[in-house]
Amino acid sequence: MAASVLASSVTLTGGLTAPASAAGTSQAVPAADAGVDEPLVIAHRGASGYRPEHTLAAYKLAIQMGADYVEPDLVSTKDGVLVARHENEISGTTDVADHPEFADRRTTKVVDGHEVTGWFTEDFTLAELKTLRAEERLPDVRPGNTRYDGRYQVPTFDEVLDLVARESRRRGEVVGVYPETKHPTYFDSVGLSLEEPLVEALQRHHLNRPNARVYIQSFETGNLRELADTVRVPLVQLVDATGAPYDLQAAGDPRTYADLVTREGLREIATYADSVGANKDIVLPRDAEGYLTLPSSVVDDAHDAGLDVHVWTMRDENRFMARDFWIGTDPNAKGDAFAEYAAFFDAGVDGVFSDYSDTAVAAREAWLAEQRALAG
Ligand code: G3P
Ligand code: CA
Repeated sequence: MAASVLASSVTLTGGLTAPASAAGTSQAVPAADAGVDEPLVIAHRGASGYRPEHTLAAYKLAIQMGADYVEPDLVSTKDGVLVARHENEISGTTDVADHPEFADRRTTKVVDGHEVTGWFTEDFTLAELKTLRAEERLPDVRPGNTRYDGRYQVPTFDEVLDLVARESRRRGEVVGVYPETKHPTYFDSVGLSLEEPLVEALQRHHLNRPNARVYIQSFETGNLRELADTVRVPLVQLVDATGAPYDLQAAGDPRTYADLVTREGLREIATYADSVGANKDIVLPRDAEGYLTLPSSVVDDAHDAGLDVHVWTMRDENRFMARDFWIGTDPNAKGDAFAEYAAFFDAGVDGVFSDYSDTAVAAREAWLAEQRALAG
């Protein structure tokens, strides 16, 4: 990341402004009369339970369903434009394999230490990427979504921000954006650093300011530390249930994600970030059979360190839930999502990434009603 470019950032005014209650480090929405903060609903890759992920249609539907934030994962094109894809390898979420003109772009690369074969965004100009169409990532789990295959383009980050501004006006309420830098060390290594265009886009849309409804997230630590010096929006350290941040691995640093969520690790994260974005298994661990065990202390420890906790990923299908919440035995059938959300809200999380914003909003409403009843 070229810090000098970021350091030249200027603060602009206007654009999407969070309500005063959502400004500052914690952007949780205060419940009107419950005395508890409403956990945030973050649309994971859009309404990806219903539409191919990371498409404008997926984001728009999530906003219509009441999501507080939409989450674009960001990678770069060959000409340095940020686009919304979960990986830079795009054969699983686009029709690139059906384009004979791009057949010779299929290749094998090493990304974050793993060999990956396919087609990569950094080998396509934006104009070329725009000739592709998105496809459902999980056709076996969500076959109904495949009817949308071939309908939507890969959106740029700018297009996502434009959509969010437009839909915020339509809803009469500010909707946030929660971008994630994907593979930042890798993109640095190929000369397509992600952070400068990210900050420039936020500035273009007047969103690099403390009361904008924006979080920036990363599984790596180094780029967040650098962004902490240059952006004015909250940062989120993502933490997986296994493994280690790739930038630490690449530098020979032995620290793992497990180390990051110790009390000491969380205090360290709090020196550069505002929240932890945790794999839900870190908060409510499961046993070998997939049933919940006792909650970890991570939420309390994070709160003690001054960090909020947002968990990922809530999905309605049994296969993604602890066994406690399964309904029936079909892994692709819908489970007891309301009970799962309640378990995480009871555990004290401040936000949930969800593929099903409608379920998340309804479950939050039900849980808040229960809290109000308990409070008398
Ligand atoms: O960013 C939170 C969550 O989205 C992390 O997982 O792999 O879906 O980007 P992933
Ligand atoms: Ca993500």
